[in-house]
Amino acid sequence: MFLTSEPIRLGVAGLGRAFVLMLRTFQNDPRVKLVAAAAPRAESRAAFEAEFGGRGYSCVEEMAEDPEVEAVYIATPHQMHAEHVAIFAAAGKHILVDKPLSVTMEDADMMVEAARSAGVHLIVGPSHSFDPSVLHARQIIESGEFGAVRMVQAFNYTDFLYRPRRPEELRTEEGGGVLFSQGVHQIDIVRLLCGGRAKSVTAMTGVWDPERPTEGAYSALLDFEAGSFASVTYSGYAHFDSDIWMDNVAELGGMKDPANYGEARRALQTLDSAAETKLKATRTYGAGTVPPIAQNNEHFGPILILSDRADLRLRPGGIDIFGDTERQHIEVPLNAAPRKTVIDALEAAVRKNIAPPQTAAWGRASLEVCHAILDSAETGEKIPLTRQCGVEFQEETL
Ligand SMILES: NC(=O)c1ccc[n+]([C@@H]2O[C@H](COP(=O)([O-])OP(=O)(O)OC[C@H]3O[C@@H](n4cnc5c(N)ncnc54)[C@H](O)[C@@H]3O)[C@@H](O)[C@H]2O)c1
Repeated sequence: MFLTSEPIRLGVAGLGRAFVLMLRTFQNDPRVKLVAAAAPRAESRAAFEAEFGGRGYSCVEEMAEDPEVEAVYIATPHQMHAEHVAIFAAAGKHILVDKPLSVTMEDADMMVEAARSAGVHLIVGPSHSFDPSVLHARQIIESGEFGAVRMVQAFNYTDFLYRPRRPEELRTEEGGGVLFSQGVHQIDIVRLLCGGRAKSVTAMTGVWDPERPTEGAYSALLDFEAGSFASVTYSGYAHFDSDIWMDNVAELGGMKDPANYGEARRALQTLDSAAETKLKATRTYGAGTVPPIAQNNEHFGPILILSDRADLRLRPGGIDIFGDTERQHIEVPLNAAPRKTVIDALEAAVRKNIAPPQTAAWGRASLEVCHAILDSAETGEKIPLTRQCGVEFQEETL
């Protein structure tokens, strides 16, 4: 039995890049204590044991039997999420699984059911729908101060496709390309701002580099049951960088140095696929450097919310509000630990039994939109959605 005031005893599955990006959170948020990790590479297990003093396991099944682990953070490749969720749910562990929930809708269905039948919480995160300015905007919308949301626009132009990748990250059918890794952030954000339940999607996608033959760009229009609509546009082709429109703050909160323009493409220029996989491994836990603690909130590109009596522009440091006759700026301060809001959600779920909106059903609904974007681009049709859910903070009886 765990006391509600005790830190959550967390096990980690997968000590790769995603774990590195959560490291500053785990090092600085006293509400979580890392007690175990499952990872196939002995070097990363050794690094974990040296840093956290926990136990390293070579497979997830062994970690699932560890009675000290009460919740797990799953940061393995997308296509393994379903299998790992099934194992940990069956062992009664609460689950934080990195986005996307899964690659296929069949896996997503299985994961919703696995968490429900085991009576454990499943949160899909971190995702940029946990960014402080997005959550603050959601509170402003709920207050009703500026009336109904009418239209949301989200853009992001990055170098995503040219960051070092595992081969399957460039194969759409295995979850590669920008939709499953990046689109899902934008979809989570606009669903949170527009009430969650999208009705249909119309979209086009771009596959423009034969060397990296997966979707590198898309534009999509979503309409929502609540009456609003949202457009989401993304390019990972590493030319224009929309962080220029975000006060030069990069996605993870560090400052962008304009002198580094073009570095992602430059780094790949002479590498074959095997050398690229190796380069990706240098960004993994225990192998490379860890990004310093960020001086700004994370963001996912420019976001505009147009509502009846004001337009809201989200920025890393806060929200600009353009009202009927006045402009104002609301500061959204930096939290002591990065991604504090993800741990807020985990703590509320594990300790108080209150689920955030980003549950397994939520993750499935965002995944449905990813697939609808691909389907619409292929068929030229407007794709109706059937698996959507609303924005609820719910007390659950487990
Ligand atoms: N939210 C974010 O900011 C963010 C950022 C990067 C990645 N991600 C997500 O995290 C997931 C992993 O992506 P990544 O870029 O970290 O990949 P990665 O290749 O860097 O890391 C995956 C890790 O999983 C390990 N692994 C493989 N099989 C395993 C198994 N059976 N048991 C335990 N560990 C196993 C690998 O050794 C590797 O260390 C993806 O779903 C991705 O979408 C999220």
